[in-house]
This record gives sequence, C-alpha cells and structure tokens, in this order.
Amino acid sequence: MSKIVIAGGQPLVGRVRVGGAKNAALTAISAALLARGDVYLENVPNISDVEIMLEIIKELGSQYQWVSQDCVKINSPDNLSYTTPYQQVKKLRASNLLLGSLLARVGKANIALPGGCNIGSRPMDLHIKGLVNLGAKVELDHGYIKATTTGLKGGRVYLDFPSVGATENIMMAAVLAKGQTVIENVAKEPEIVDLANFLNAMGAKVRGAGTDVIKIQGVPELKGVRYSIIPDRIEAGTFMVAAAATRGDVLVENVIPTHLEPLTAKLREANIIVEEKDDVIHVKGEAEFKPIDLKTMPYPGFPTDMQSQVMAFLTITPGISIIVENVFENRLQLAEELKRMGAKIKVEGRTAVVEGVPQLQGTQVKASDLRAGAALIIAGLIAQGETEICNIHYIDRGYENLEDKLTGLGARITRVG
Ligand code: EPZ
Repeated sequence: MSKIVIAGGQPLVGRVRVGGAKNAALTAISAALLARGDVYLENVPNISDVEIMLEIIKELGSQYQWVSQDCVKINSPDNLSYTTPYQQVKKLRASNLLLGSLLARVGKANIALPGGCNIGSRPMDLHIKGLVNLGAKVELDHGYIKATTTGLKGGRVYLDFPSVGATENIMMAAVLAKGQTVIENVAKEPEIVDLANFLNAMGAKVRGAGTDVIKIQGVPELKGVRYSIIPDRIEAGTFMVAAAATRGDVLVENVIPTHLEPLTAKLREANIIVEEKDDVIHVKGEAEFKPIDLKTMPYPGFPTDMQSQVMAFLTITPGISIIVENVFENRLQLAEELKRMGAKIKVEGRTAVVEGVPQLQGTQVKASDLRAGAALIIAGLIAQGETEICNIHYIDRGYENLEDKLTGLGARITRVG
C-alpha cells in the first residue's frame, strides 16, 4: 500500500494552479448522457473518481475519449443500459447521480443504493421524492432504486434539505420532462449553477440556479456541446489553508473568488491575510493566528468539504476554537488522527473543541476519507519531524498531482510504495 511521507516545518511559498472541480465534473459526466451528439467537457480533472465515472457510463453504452490532458469527448447512444450495479456504486457513490439522467434519456434507471460511507449515512429519500413528483414510478428492490417512467411530466418539488445530489438528479430529470418543473429549497452550490449552465448550453431551459427556487421548462431533446467545468473551489481552499497553516505566502491561481467567500471570511477572522485579484487569491500566514468558531452549512454557508482542512490548521492556533459539523454526522473522526500528532481536540456529537498547541509531532496516521486525507497532509506540513499517511487512495479520488503541486511550493513530500 503506497503512502505519503512529509518532512514538516517548511512554509509554502510560490504559485499553484487549481484544476477543474471534481463535483462539477462528476455531475457533468452524468448530464452528458442526456445529449444526442458529441459532448466535449473541458477542464476535467484527472482523478480516480472521474476515471471511475467515465468507466461506468462506458459500461452503460456511452463512448468516451480523452482528446487532450483535460478534455474528454462523450457520446451516448439512444439504447443505453440503465443499471449501475452495487460493485460500481460501492466504488463511487456519486454514480447515484446517473438516476436522473438515465430516467430522462431512456425512461428507466436501476441504481444500487449507495449505503453509508465514512462521513455519514447517505440517504436518497429526497432524490426519490423529487422523481416521483415528476411522474416516475420508484421502488426499492433488493438494495436497488428501480425507477421507471412512460414519460416524465413537469411537477413541483420542495426539498426538506437543500441536498446537492437531489437537486442535481431532479434537474437532470426535469430538462426532458413535458411541461414546467419548480424545485424549491434547492442547493445553491456553485456546482449547481455550473450544471444549469451546462444543461442550458445543450439546449435546456433552466432558470434560477444559485437561488432557492429553480424553474425548468422541459424540451424534447438536448444536443452535444463543448463546455468548460468551473475550477475546484475545494482544491483551491485546501491550498489556501495549507498556505496559512505553514505561515507561507502563496498565490492560488485559476479560482473564482466569490466561490471561496465563506472560507476567505473565516481565514481573515483567524488573522490570515487573504487578497482577491481577478482569478487569483493571495494568502499570507505571517501574523499571529486567532481562534475562530466554525459551523458547516449548505452554500453559501461554510462548506463541509473544507471543515477537516481548517481543523488541522486550528490545532496550532492559540486559544479555543469550536467547530460544529451540521452536514455529515461522521465528519469529525479526523480528530482521532490529529490527536496522535499531539493535537488537543474534544469531540462531543457534532461539535469539536480545538485547543491550540505550539506544535504537532510527525507520526504515522491514516486517512479515513478524501478531505480528512487532505487535512492530514496539512498537519504533516506543519508538524515537527516526519509524518507518514496511509490510505492515500482517498486523496487520489479528488486531488490531481497533489504532491507535485505541494513540492512546487517548497513542501518536502513524497509518495512511497
Ligand atoms: C455532495 O454530496 C458532494 N459530492 C459532497 O462532496 C459534499 O460534501 C456535499 O454535496 C455537500 O456539499 C458530490 O457532489 C459528488 P447532499 P451529496 O445530498 O450530494 C442529507 C467531497 O468531499 N440528504 O447535499 O451526497 C444527507 O444525509 C464530497 O467532495 C438527505 O437527508 O450531499 C446529508 O446530511 C463529500 N436525503 C446532507 O443531506 C437525501 O436524499 C448533505 O447531503 C440526500 C441527502
């Protein structure tokens, strides 16, 4: 099993370019199934989650081909298969995003229930509620969601929680439904807006993405198009926190600063210098860190996907910081690994109380999920001595060439085994 080894204590200095957004790319690959004709997706990151998603649509009958380093061409015939088996969904939970696009394109979708994962239970009740309101017949059968329709019709859906995935699945089903769909209390993440822009580029009529209500007028067909994915705000945020924590001076390039406002605000509260210039964010961690309180919330609240990285930073921030994880119930388990490095963290339910210590000590730790893995890399960068991180396959799911990018900023980091 390969692992990452870091010799800590080196401030990150220089400039780093952020790639395309994992969570926008995975949704766009599913949405591409809706189109007749060639779809070219640009700015797609070369990460294992994307590779798996492309392999899954290939097994359904789509053709895909990388036409450059970050552009993939996808073509999906009318006679697509419509079952994503458990061994695929087990590998990639996000394959549940095929539910809406398969139902819209071929009138059927059998998607294995994703089951739980390390960050929490991952229910699909809101996805199902939405599709039923659009006229689908949905049943749970032997661990599968089996959805069929003789033709989707526009409907009204109120989401009990602004679920990102449920919003996306319902949008992808609605664009080819007959009539108008109104979805209320939707997710407002930038990835939702990106999906709407991509669908509209293919000929859909989606309005209101980024607000609480999305209205969709169904159309008979979508056509192939060339579309560029938004930059990854979580990759960008990971570099921002790493720059701050290592008391570095880093220019994070190819970002959309408004997508990072919740994180920028919190880093400034912690006395980190953050300057926004067009598509670059400049982060300097030179001043005395100040403790902060943090609550993860749906966008535009503080993103749950950045909580672990900030927890690593707060372990060496003098004073008491309080983190409340409101989105995924198991996303505080990182604390146990950070405590092995000398961090002082008390976890009670969804709340972690972090008392800053002068320094972490390097040791062996293990990643439990993608963002916890990124957080342990940040901890290794600031620790005294050497840190070994195993289970790094989690990190490869969502970060392209992370060690190379960090090495380019002066980190002493290598992958061994
Ligand atoms: C997406 O997951 C992202 N994944 C996650 O990123 C991200 O953490 C999450 O949104 C929140 O921003 C992708 O886009 C592929 P949700 P998703 O549905 O869609 C509850 C990463 O690290 N819920 O918004 O699964 C659920 O229990 C990953 O890149 C229901 O109750 O997130 C959870 O508490 C991790 N019923 C909350 O909503 C449902 O039917 C948020 O889930 C669906 C969700």
